[in-house]
Amino acid sequence: MSGVSRRTFLGVLGGGAVLAAAGCGVFGESSGQLLPSRLPLPRPFTVPLPIPQVARPVRPGRYEVTQRAARVEIIPGTTTEVWGYGGTFPGPTFELRRGAPATIAVRNELSVPTSTHLHGGVNPPHSDGYPTDLVVPAGYAHHDHRHAETHHQLVKDYHYPVDQPAATLWYHDHRMDHTAPQVWRGLAGFALVRDEEEDALPLPRGERELPLMICDRSFDEDGSFRYPDLHDGGHFGSDYMEGVEGDVILVNGAPWPVAEVTATRYRLRLLNASNARRYRLALTPGGRFTQIGSDAGLLTAPVVHDTIPIAPGERYDVVADFSAYPVGSAVTLVNTLADGPAGNVMRFVVTRRAADDSAVPRVLARSSEGRPRAVTTRSFDFRRTGNAWTINGHPYRPGVPLARPRLGTAEIWRLTSDFHHPVHVHLAHFQVLARNGRPPLATDGGWKDTVDVRPYEVVDVLARFTGYPGRYMLHCHNLEHEDMAMMADFDVV
Ligand code: C2O
Ligand code: CU
Ligand code: CU
Repeated sequence: MSGVSRRTFLGVLGGGAVLAAAGCGVFGESSGQLLPSRLPLPRPFTVPLPIPQVARPVRPGRYEVTQRAARVEIIPGTTTEVWGYGGTFPGPTFELRRGAPATIAVRNELSVPTSTHLHGGVNPPHSDGYPTDLVVPAGYAHHDHRHAETHHQLVKDYHYPVDQPAATLWYHDHRMDHTAPQVWRGLAGFALVRDEEEDALPLPRGERELPLMICDRSFDEDGSFRYPDLHDGGHFGSDYMEGVEGDVILVNGAPWPVAEVTATRYRLRLLNASNARRYRLALTPGGRFTQIGSDAGLLTAPVVHDTIPIAPGERYDVVADFSAYPVGSAVTLVNTLADGPAGNVMRFVVTRRAADDSAVPRVLARSSEGRPRAVTTRSFDFRRTGNAWTINGHPYRPGVPLARPRLGTAEIWRLTSDFHHPVHVHLAHFQVLARNGRPPLATDGGWKDTVDVRPYEVVDVLARFTGYPGRYMLHCHNLEHEDMAMMADFDVV
């Protein structure tokens, strides 16, 4: 939307619900507004779990992928138009290796501009997916006078140095003001970074390593994705300003899928790719997750959890041990934050015993550095101001940095909020130091790029600015909040 339409849009919200006035606890655990589907929901645990295709390079280090629309069967018996990288949802998985730079050329054959961000990547600014750094479809007439630094191209080569530890990264659209609807339609996929240190560990691998992209969607009668119109009338603001939640939970693009597993350990790379929905994941009829990694890579040592809260943008790399269940068991991954359909995620069925030479070693990331000393502390307040979601009182102002951290230093960033705001920082990885002055959660460990800041919480993180100088951003990863201006630039100098 242009600057003018954004103002009109925000103006329309004037009579909407006044979220900012609501007190702590009013929102509970809910981080969005449910948009119900208009078709009968499919029966859970009937569709097999798909595993996204692994992208093949056109030559070593170079990939070419086209963003296009395609019709796929998501709800059995109907078809859905998705916008996908390679025409698939999720897009292909890019298998990257530390020390092996990769170029991904993105061609846009959709009807709208896009910008691709590799979430969790330590990449130079020109390849970071800045929201106005657009790849436009051929013939697209685009006039936007707001952004002096707007760049438009038909195909863009994104250069990824891949000089970072093994981690579960993901990529998704990041177009200014339109990220939420465009990701909802399917523009997201995995990028897995591997390295020698991780190769040397006896973790489950091959078919026993499952990337699991969890997201919620809603569907119209005809099987199409249902999404509110953000730009037409005032409806969106009053009802969906909190964020859009669907009632169908997809894993790798399939509704409540089922996966057959052997009675062995599995590595599950959990990603919350939802626009606004948070989950608290648990296994029924019981069972625990051994966390081995967080957003930006392996932990130094594993941590065992009964439940895992996961906010939009976050990843948890865990090992689940299915040898703990009798053969024939159904083990369900559930979401204890929701009742009803969104309370289920997917199911594993334990089909047979099998040999298992995997293990979770007591030391995982040997080389993961300790805590650097912070040179300064800065505060970022995530809050509704008037009719916008703002950072430090400002709706997003492209080109106006809120901070200028120095390359090679570390800073404490104090994040405060009025609602659930999963705060994501580009380029810089961070450790969570404290929540409300107390020790962080057991699930906050390791180097992260996204942290779930809960209503009226104060979260201190220690961010390390390594990589490249230039313009990056921090924002709320509730994608509706992001589109409603909860973003800011920072310049690494
Ligand atoms: Cu995954 Cu700037 O976002
Ligand atoms: Cu990012
Ligand atoms: Cu937010």
